[in-house]
Amino acid sequence: MRPVRLMKVFITRRIPPEGIAALSRAADCEVEQWDSDEPIPDKELERGLAGAHGLLCLLSDRVDKRLLDAAGANLKVISTMSVGVDHLALDEIKKRENARWLVITSICPHVHRSGYTPDVLTDTTAELAVSLLLTTCRRLPEAIEEVKNGGWTSWKPLWMCGYGLTQSTVGIIGLGRIGQAIARRLKPFGVQKFLYTGRQPRPEEAAEFQAEFVSVPQLAAQSDFIVVTCSLTPATRGLCNKDVFQKMKKTAVFVNISRGDVVNQDDLYQALASGQIAAAGLDVTTPEPLPTNHPLLTLKNCVILPHIGSATYRTRNTMSLLAANNLLAGLRGEPMPSELKL
Ligand code: NDP
Ligand code: DGY
Repeated sequence: MRPVRLMKVFITRRIPPEGIAALSRAADCEVEQWDSDEPIPDKELERGLAGAHGLLCLLSDRVDKRLLDAAGANLKVISTMSVGVDHLALDEIKKRENARWLVITSICPHVHRSGYTPDVLTDTTAELAVSLLLTTCRRLPEAIEEVKNGGWTSWKPLWMCGYGLTQSTVGIIGLGRIGQAIARRLKPFGVQKFLYTGRQPRPEEAAEFQAEFVSVPQLAAQSDFIVVTCSLTPATRGLCNKDVFQKMKKTAVFVNISRGDVVNQDDLYQALASGQIAAAGLDVTTPEPLPTNHPLLTLKNCVILPHIGSATYRTRNTMSLLAANNLLAGLRGEPMPSELKL
């Protein structure tokens, strides 16, 4: 029998067991891993990736031109254990895909491909978004703190009041998979009206919630709750800025589970500190982690979580398995379970 030529796979972090088990079982792959829960230093990543055929990375790894150059010509597949792909230099990846396509297309129909992990984290992330929204609008961290620090002196009619979802208008920026899953969960709370915005109306998806497509300024002005669930792209970077916060109701609550860079954080700080809006709940920030002396952390009306939208054991395991299967399928020239179409 002819010896199998092993393909080198580099994994940038310890990943949940199902993913690593799938890769370890693959007889045609030789797996190297940054065996730590902490991010890999740039130099180590360049060293590890040199000559590799496949890369399994996380959203905290920046896959840019420099890294792609350092990887060399063997690199065929990039698989990220995330649905967000803003950490991948898509234009550079596409360039390489096209260039190699021209050269190798006759002998190898599948060159430079990328995989990601949509769908499998949608419900878990929507669940977290709803938790964050309720935590923020009903001021739970503040209330818990008051119990501990003796601020709870008696039942007082207006003490620790917040805002509720019943009869509210909820505006969703990006009615994609997660945006819809959030709307589905919020509806039974008695939301009166859903608004949404995006690049174009999505009548089929919106019908389930009788959601109305509006512009960003209209959504800002009319919503009691705004939930940001769009992907980070050049068009959405800094989308939520002072123009948007100025249009929002003083009683409005802002929630972001998308990416930190969709929000201008200085503008958000001003809006929260000056009482221009009521509160914000953020699962994502810029940078991550947010420095512990960041001004947003001084505000009582800002609840910040450490990017835990998809953080259940089951979902992270499923994401790691999907990322591994994307990688293996890509390397073998088979259809990927979730290929990123560039
Ligand atoms: P989808 O692709 O299903 O949804 C993305 C949405 O972004 C679409 O509704 C799209 O709307 C919208 N969008 C794109 N461009 C614009 C624009 N210019 N203006 C307004 N909206 C826009 O992705 P998912 O729902 O699966 O995931 C969304 C994002 O959530 C991910 O990209 C990731 O960044 C983040 N995420 C965060 C998690 C966390 O742990 N906090 C967990 C999982 C995901 P349209 O096409 O109509 O323009
Ligand atoms: C993603 O997948 O993009 C999230 O941010 C983490 O699960």
